[in-house]
Amino acid sequence: MTEFTTLQEMLLIAHAKMEPAVWDFVNGGTESEVTLRRNRHGLDRLAFRARVLNDVARIDTSTTFLGHKLALPVMMAPVGSLALIDPAAAVSVAGACKTYGSLLIYSTFADPPLKIVRSKVDHPLILGLYVRGDQAWLDAAVDEAVAAGCLAIAVVTEAPYYSRRERDLINGFRSRGSKSTTYAATQKVLREGASSKAVAAAEARMVTARLTWKTIERIRRRSSLPIILKGISTAEDARAAVEHGASAIYISNHGGRQLDCAPGSIEVVPEIVDAVSGRTAVIMDGGIYRGTDVLKAIALGARAVCIGRLQCWALAAGGEAGLVRMMEILEEEIIIAMGLLGVTNLSELSRNHVVATDALDPPHIFNPFPVVKERLAALPPRTNANKRD
Ligand SMILES: Cc1cc2nc3c(=O)[nH]c(=O)nc-3n(C[C@H](O)[C@H](O)[C@H](O)COP(=O)(O)O)c2cc1C
Repeated sequence: MTEFTTLQEMLLIAHAKMEPAVWDFVNGGTESEVTLRRNRHGLDRLAFRARVLNDVARIDTSTTFLGHKLALPVMMAPVGSLALIDPAAAVSVAGACKTYGSLLIYSTFADPPLKIVRSKVDHPLILGLYVRGDQAWLDAAVDEAVAAGCLAIAVVTEAPYYSRRERDLINGFRSRGSKSTTYAATQKVLREGASSKAVAAAEARMVTARLTWKTIERIRRRSSLPIILKGISTAEDARAAVEHGASAIYISNHGGRQLDCAPGSIEVVPEIVDAVSGRTAVIMDGGIYRGTDVLKAIALGARAVCIGRLQCWALAAGGEAGLVRMMEILEEEIIIAMGLLGVTNLSELSRNHVVATDALDPPHIFNPFPVVKERLAALPPRTNANKRD
């Protein structure tokens, strides 16, 4: 189904097609979901300051990221478990990126394996590296990225622990990243000791938590690929990232799926852009569901944005063709909004084009989609086929 003419129709189709537990997995956040809602709230409380009487008959929506041309300043955020949404998973996303002129950041947790995606779609990728093993595992992952011709490696830094996503816990839903043992049990083993086998297993479970700046240096030394640090959310870490040779800073709170009670991603863009003062490109994600959201991030100094849930909804609604359709609609929204803002080129956007104001609606993930909110509220609640007793 790719006949949708609006993102709202796309979302309604995605809702109808997705299993309730998968819908919750994609859309949910951690615990109170405050970070998730703040991602939207931060965007909802920015208004535009439009300039008029500029000739806006020709509009260029393109940009470059790490020397690669993008038709829109929009890339696909790394998303694991894509096969829950579309059987062709990352192949569909990579294919849509090739057709549209975007880039996929391929998650370590995505399907099928990187080299299969590359053999099926002749278009470069960025590896979204979730460190899940020891030094040898890490070296092999970097070598694989080089062999697959990746443009860069985006190291995921915002996930040393897998957070409590309570919708999934209530639904009895397990994703590939979730743990079968509690962290409290693992910490007890590490604290009090047990059999050497139990301690080794506990150490192995904590491997992602052991990431440090030294790990970043090791990844950098292993290849000449540019390093992007995903998950930066403070000026301090942005400066450290520059000092450690990051080629780009990727502001992200994992779409509100990791640390609860964090600020919205868009809220930290200015402090990070100022901290790096042009030394590296800054990209961001979190709550970007509309063309106007993309432009707000660019106006605040981001080079491009990444989309997580929007990618999932488009994929659920129409597979690869659905993703291309979604990008076409985003392009249309972006062109119109640029024209109405009085700019013809993304580089003309500046902080003067946005102003903080009150959000009209209480924070909600679907604020950009009033029709979706109305229609979903009118539907009877759905039950999960795979709910645990
Ligand atoms: C279903 C789902 C799976 C995700 N899996 C990953 C992952 O494997 N690696 C990663 O770095 N981020 C992952 N993320 C986070 C995204 O990369 C991105 O940071 C986030 O989705 C951006 O917020 P948005 O969904 O509001 O656009 C995932 C997000 C979703 C929704």
